Amino acid sequence: LIEPGDEIIVPDPRYTSYDEAIALAGGRMILVPTRVEDDFALDPDEVARRITPRTKVLLLISPNNPTAGVTPPEWVRGLAALAVERDLIVIADEIYEKFIYDDALHVSVASLPGMAERTITLNGVSKTYAMTGWRIGYLAAPASFIRAATALKEMVNVQAPTVSQWAAAAALDGPQECVEEMRRIYDGRRRMMMAELDRMGIGYGRPRGGLYIWANVTSTGLTATQLSYHLLDEEDVLVLPGAGFGTGWDDWIRLTILQPESALREVATRMARVIERHRRAG
Ligand SMILES: Cc1ncc(COP(=O)(O)O)c(C=O)c1O
Repeated sequence: LIEPGDEIIVPDPRYTSYDEAIALAGGRMILVPTRVEDDFALDPDEVARRITPRTKVLLLISPNNPTAGVTPPEWVRGLAALAVERDLIVIADEIYEKFIYDDALHVSVASLPGMAERTITLNGVSKTYAMTGWRIGYLAAPASFIRAATALKEMVNVQAPTVSQWAAAAALDGPQECVEEMRRIYDGRRRMMMAELDRMGIGYGRPRGGLYIWANVTSTGLTATQLSYHLLDEEDVLVLPGAGFGTGWDDWIRLTILQPESALREVATRMARVIERHRRAG
């Protein structure tokens, strides 16, 4: 997709596995900040400002990790128009597409006019079917890209395990009610955790999709890194500090909603305890 020195536009904060892939290909990552006021959606105007003659690819991750931002349909259309106008390839990571909350809407950018031929859509069974350990991802893209990707994949690790491929096919071809059932469960956990954060006076980006809450811990008087270490050392609670998702995000932590409600409630109790302890200690 890219030659050394080519630019790829990446929303920030971000799932940093892409950093490594871009570096491996010799690409230059051009970060676009996403903002709490936009619920961490990717603003086409911010993207447009950063396009140069070296820009080859736009990475669109929606819903996103760690922010739980979902880029709304009108902005996805704006991004698609930019891609056509500036001749960009879009990599659309839609791995969280089935987990959308409230009135948010997910649109696959490849479904928009003129986009199928310039979009690589990434997905997998890790999130939709909670099958992380099976290691199956898949993509949809123009045939020429698929041929090149297949050759590369064969050189890197030959194939995904056959048993995992059968399991993934069963998940994708089987009844899908379990997906909506899980979405409802995640939604319940999300609402519960938001209420707990409200009680603690901790702000957060409105989680519109996916499996995370991106919370701003400024009100605790601790940095995200300090709070994360205190939580782990003193209360056996693991959250990820924002510094792991990009520079300048050390007021933020990423919480997941992967545990049952009872466990998340316990997490909230322990968080409140840590915050109070360190507030008193000054
Ligand atoms: C945005 C995003 N894309 C892709 C993945 C890859 O998931 P997996 O390696 O389990 O397929 C993740 C995992 O956390 C993710 O957050």
